[in-house]
Amino acid sequence: MTHPLSEENRALIERLLGEMTLGEKIGQMTQAEKNSVRRGDVARLGLGSVLSGGGGSPKPNTPEAWREMVTGFIRESLASPVGIPLLYGVDAVHGHNNVVGATIFPHNIGLGATRDPDLVRRIGRATALEVAATNVRWDFAPAVSLPQDLRWGRTYEGYSQDPALVSDLAVAYIEGLRGEGWDSPTSVLPSVKHYVADGATAFGTSTRVNRLGVTLDHTLALARTGEGMRSLLNQGAWQIDQGDSPIDEATLRSVHLPPYRAAIEAGVLNVMASYSSWQGLKMHAHRSLLTDVLKGELGFQGFVVSDWEAIDQLHPGDYASCVADAVNAGVDMVMVPFDYERFIHTLRAEVEAGRVSGARIDDAVRRILTAKVALGLFERPSTDEALLSLVGCPEHRAVAREAVRKSLVLLKNEGNVLPLSPDLPALLVAGEAADDLGAQCGGWTITWMGGHGPTTPGTTILEGLRRQFGHPARVHYVPNGETSSRYPVGLAVLAEEPYAEGMGDRRELRLSPKHLALLARVRQQCDRLVVVLLSGRPLVITEQVPDWDAFVAAWLPGTEGDGVAEVLCGAAPFTGRLGFDWPLSQADVARTATSQNLWKIGAGLTPVSGEIPPLSPTP
Ligand code: BGC
Ligand code: BGC
Repeated sequence: MTHPLSEENRALIERLLGEMTLGEKIGQMTQAEKNSVRRGDVARLGLGSVLSGGGGSPKPNTPEAWREMVTGFIRESLASPVGIPLLYGVDAVHGHNNVVGATIFPHNIGLGATRDPDLVRRIGRATALEVAATNVRWDFAPAVSLPQDLRWGRTYEGYSQDPALVSDLAVAYIEGLRGEGWDSPTSVLPSVKHYVADGATAFGTSTRVNRLGVTLDHTLALARTGEGMRSLLNQGAWQIDQGDSPIDEATLRSVHLPPYRAAIEAGVLNVMASYSSWQGLKMHAHRSLLTDVLKGELGFQGFVVSDWEAIDQLHPGDYASCVADAVNAGVDMVMVPFDYERFIHTLRAEVEAGRVSGARIDDAVRRILTAKVALGLFERPSTDEALLSLVGCPEHRAVAREAVRKSLVLLKNEGNVLPLSPDLPALLVAGEAADDLGAQCGGWTITWMGGHGPTTPGTTILEGLRRQFGHPARVHYVPNGETSSRYPVGLAVLAEEPYAEGMGDRRELRLSPKHLALLARVRQQCDRLVVVLLSGRPLVITEQVPDWDAFVAAWLPGTEGDGVAEVLCGAAPFTGRLGFDWPLSQADVARTATSQNLWKIGAGLTPVSGEIPPLSPTP
């Protein structure tokens, strides 16, 4: 593999390495979380990076305040003795999703259903422009997970269960983040995650929360969830995420490794290690996979960043061993995220004690600087402020809306009830989710767990329907479905509660009692029943589907609810196809060779609805 940098730039890095003190090198290897960073510490300690975790926004949460915050950190880094520009990182996993006003695209599971690399490339570009507008140049995306157990709370972060599709879409996204070149002014460094086999962990193997349901974890104590922690744990939270992948090496190589190979060929310079283990050994301590396979065999020349507080899990109670093992295994930068001074002192002591070699430190810093130089940060540590006008702009929302339209998968359509006829005398719309922007965006939206209601500007499905249906007055919205009127067609919109990571692990995947009660009410009042499901994964609906005339899997579409309405009303065709098998029963939610499906991967009806009218613009 050719080196990403010119001879001249490589010489610059070697010169810097020759001049830097051990403390400065360790500073580059340190990533702190922005709420923990004390004023002056970026310069004093020469921190290499600062991040915003999920929901890590400034107050007020505006694009301008984001830019000011990030710019402040960058300025401080330039004022440090070495003056190496800081690289700020965020999780822009479906648009710049922590920022109020940004365009929120469908989560990856929806993009997988589009099977459209060109679209995903444009989403990557739009995301990069909005990220760069806030002076951020590093995005912890794309996730190239291959979720095997749909009960996993991160299933929606994966494009598909098909490694070839995941590789194609990930490469397209990476090309979008890159734009015209890594050194172009609006390129954003992708973090391909989580290396490796994060999607193969087995139910019951997660150790994040102990068996008594007690979390000793600072992070989880901070997380805000719609439901209480206790109730979530009873439903299966933290059973799969961060667990152990018991698969054999052949499976690891044929299913989970290919997207990394493809991403490296596309020139990525950052990979994030997975919290999970492979055959009992945590990835953050997995020297053969991080160093021999990733950096050796696959020729990866960029740097490996740890996941959030992940090294702390290697040897609970023995932080020095955590640090030494992770760095020796091949972790180059540590997402600490809280007590960065402790990390710095500890790594220094490990080097001085000879448990981590100076050569390993130089290698780590060389890799980090390679990415910084490749991004052109030394010549241009800040982006152009004029980019701010692009955050949430109509052009980006149009791309998101296209993605929404293409992500919808029509799985049942008795008597062609869809698209909805414009001549219907009335349409009943039921379900609070029909008018809930937070629910349609899901987790990783404004906050880590996501939320309900108008958390950021956008259009709900109901608003879209009122616009697209031709006769807005004929759209009757009854959130709880209780009505005494009779309707030719009822549209029920159901949604999972928003969640992220292990908080979304579930023992079973089913509709809630509240969903079932709503469906029963709507069924009674309507001749035809159309169900739209907003979810991060397939739910087991085998018993209910016979009662429905039409069923649309809409995933987590994001801020552009118009896109859903356009397709329901026939302004655009259904073209989405499942990126995952849809399980038949609870016994089939974790994929095995004998799993049975209600629908197979690739399923999706594409009714030809005669003439397709032109799209009406969003006002
Ligand atoms: C942060 C997330 C992070 C998580 C780690 C949360 O408090 O907001 O960004 O992913 O902790 O599990
Ligand atoms: C998640 C990562 C994320 C990081 C920073 C972790 O909890 O696993 O996917 O990039 O937090 O927010």
